[in-house]
Amino acid sequence: MDQAVTLRTIAEKGGDFMEETSSTRVIAVSSGKGGVGKTNSVVNLAIAFAKMGKRVLLLDADLGLGNLDVLLGLAPKYNMGHLLRGERTINEVLVKGPEGILILPASSGIQELTNLGPEERLSLSSHLENLQHEIDIMIIDTGAGISSNVLFFNMAAQEIVVVVTPEPTSITDAYALMKVLLQKHGERRFKLLVNTVKSRKEALEVYRKISLAAERFLNISVDYLGCVMHDENVPKSVVQQKAVMELYPDSKASVCYKEIAGTICDLPMRPTLKGGLQFFWRQILNRNI
Ligand SMILES: Nc1ncnc2c1ncn2[C@@H]1O[C@H](COP(=O)(O)OP(=O)(O)OP(=O)(O)O)[C@@H](O)[C@H]1O
Ligand SMILES: [Mg+2]
Repeated sequence: MDQAVTLRTIAEKGGDFMEETSSTRVIAVSSGKGGVGKTNSVVNLAIAFAKMGKRVLLLDADLGLGNLDVLLGLAPKYNMGHLLRGERTINEVLVKGPEGILILPASSGIQELTNLGPEERLSLSSHLENLQHEIDIMIIDTGAGISSNVLFFNMAAQEIVVVVTPEPTSITDAYALMKVLLQKHGERRFKLLVNTVKSRKEALEVYRKISLAAERFLNISVDYLGCVMHDENVPKSVVQQKAVMELYPDSKASVCYKEIAGTICDLPMRPTLKGGLQFFWRQILNRNI
């Protein structure tokens, strides 16, 4: 697939993007425990959004095991490291996936963001902020756990989606992630996506357990975003390096992804400081962790 994606340049915009209000929704997808279905959720939700006519950008921010590209059978030549070192342009680094979704393969480049000088930060920031005109929804696959990077990407996003399965360890680790985000960063808004369930009833039971504990011990309320059924077509698609939404669009899991995408689109945009791509990139570039 062609690696280069055509995006308009800052010059074409007249460079006044800093003054404009962003309408890009930025969603971080995280989990306490690994292997619960984050990457599959990110990819399939992205395709569901794209089928709804949204322009989607996926950021692979999983430092350890970033694999959005593997899951989609893509072989990106470059990643954000090349962009940061000025070796490639954003157009060269972005990869086009199914339904026109854009992927920024960032896994091995993210660490370098902390080492940029002020001028590099400014130039990169302008470059990246320009994307807000091209993108309706950005979804970040943060990786699992409570490392500073995972926490950081969650803090920079408008919506935090926590993926959990009915396994007790997944439930306790999801709770632990929310607790750390609250205690270290004052984050109080979480949306739960319950994956690999046998029934909606089972999903609601998982949600009930987590939300009761969160209310009682953390004094925060967790929203129920939806559930994804256990579906053998998901691992089957993974083996073929395609998204289940592509190969089996009417499969149980695909129907759930479409439903969740619809729910997210109906959420009001949060008119807070954490709005849009501008805030996101400024946080990334100003961070000190
Ligand atoms: N709804 C589902 N039904 C059946 N299997 C699923 C479902 N969702 C995910 N899986 C399977 O679970 C495994 C892990 O999925 P995935 O890679 O998306 O998890 P992850 O949370 O991104 O993992 P990691 O923390 O390692 O990045 C995959 O093999 C996938 O096929
Ligand atoms: Mg993953």
